[in-house]
Amino acid sequence: MSVATTNIAIEKAATSKIDQIDFDNLAFGSVFTDHMLVCDYKNGTWQTPKIVPYRPISLDPSAKIFHYGQSICEGMKAYKDEKGDIFLFRPADNHRRLNISAHRMAIPELPKEYFMDGLTTLLKLDHQFIPTKTGSSLYIRPFIFASGNGFHASPADAYKFMIACAPSGAYFAGEVKVLIEEKYSRSANGGVGYAKAGGNYAGQFYPTQLAVEKGYNQVIWTDDTEHEYIEEAGAMNIFVRIGDTLITAPTSDRILDGITRKSILEMAEDMGIPTQVRKISVTEVVEAAKNGTLMEMFGAGTAAVISPIAAFGYRDQDYTLPSLNETYAQKLKKGITNIQYNLAEDPYGWRYKVTD
Ligand code: PLP
Ligand code: COI
Repeated sequence: MSVATTNIAIEKAATSKIDQIDFDNLAFGSVFTDHMLVCDYKNGTWQTPKIVPYRPISLDPSAKIFHYGQSICEGMKAYKDEKGDIFLFRPADNHRRLNISAHRMAIPELPKEYFMDGLTTLLKLDHQFIPTKTGSSLYIRPFIFASGNGFHASPADAYKFMIACAPSGAYFAGEVKVLIEEKYSRSANGGVGYAKAGGNYAGQFYPTQLAVEKGYNQVIWTDDTEHEYIEEAGAMNIFVRIGDTLITAPTSDRILDGITRKSILEMAEDMGIPTQVRKISVTEVVEAAKNGTLMEMFGAGTAAVISPIAAFGYRDQDYTLPSLNETYAQKLKKGITNIQYNLAEDPYGWRYKVTD
């Protein structure tokens, strides 16, 4: 249960956009709620956050975000149950990861109470925008960027922490087909792959465009030295089921430490599903596809939830995953979403109730 400790000033929107939203046909992240949170960092300290109507912001053309890409974000969701109560999923982990990203990108770390109180106050104010239809939720985007000015290539002296929210449907419109990438790299040892830095996504767009032109929707990144080990996809961690064993790559400098990923690992163990966290070679996956032991592949993330992969491409050849009657992906998705939407007990303490 949240206890607001921060004195957050609220400037209410003059009119609401709620009537313009078609809750039956929600895309992902393209319509926004009435309000947003803004918190400035200046004179060496984070100022008290405030809530204002959702609107464009104005920045100096020399703001460092434009030139040097000093920006990080988080991805979360709010869920509403049939009683109208609002829930988050492991929000303290998002705050922790935001500060891990901040540290790596030389951005000042954000106090936890500003994150939690800002978020819960905003959600209570815009609660009507949280969808109730199965598969829909309110996607929450907390982000921090360099708003300080100047062309000197060094960290800014001013930042903005903001939260914007979008009632959203599924991230993928249909089947997910992925391409195992061998030329381009998403990240490298000693780099920023483990941070949720804006540039990590920008750097993926071109190789992903090439994959989309070939009929795939995501790239599966491989290690940057040999391009032999599966790392993660553009917007989600990757799980592979060979025989009965569910395998995912270990986190490293190069991989985002996904909250969905670690929740799946814990829940799978409790469901009696054998799991392994280890390097997965592309050769092993291709061999398993050829000899019939590759049972499932799926992506896991806040936006993607658990998205089964229908096929993967590698060296100009497509490998189709079998269609099984009962999958780990279905079982784990049900387990995770039942906790998120308050449809089942939560023995893990992952669900966080926003409303009293
Ligand atoms: N990997 C990348 C690159 C992502 O953008 C995301 C989504 O945030 C994930 C993995 C999954 O992380 P999480 O489960 O914490 O959303
Ligand atoms: C999330 O899953 O929350 C993300 O941030 C991924 C993003 C590409 C939508």
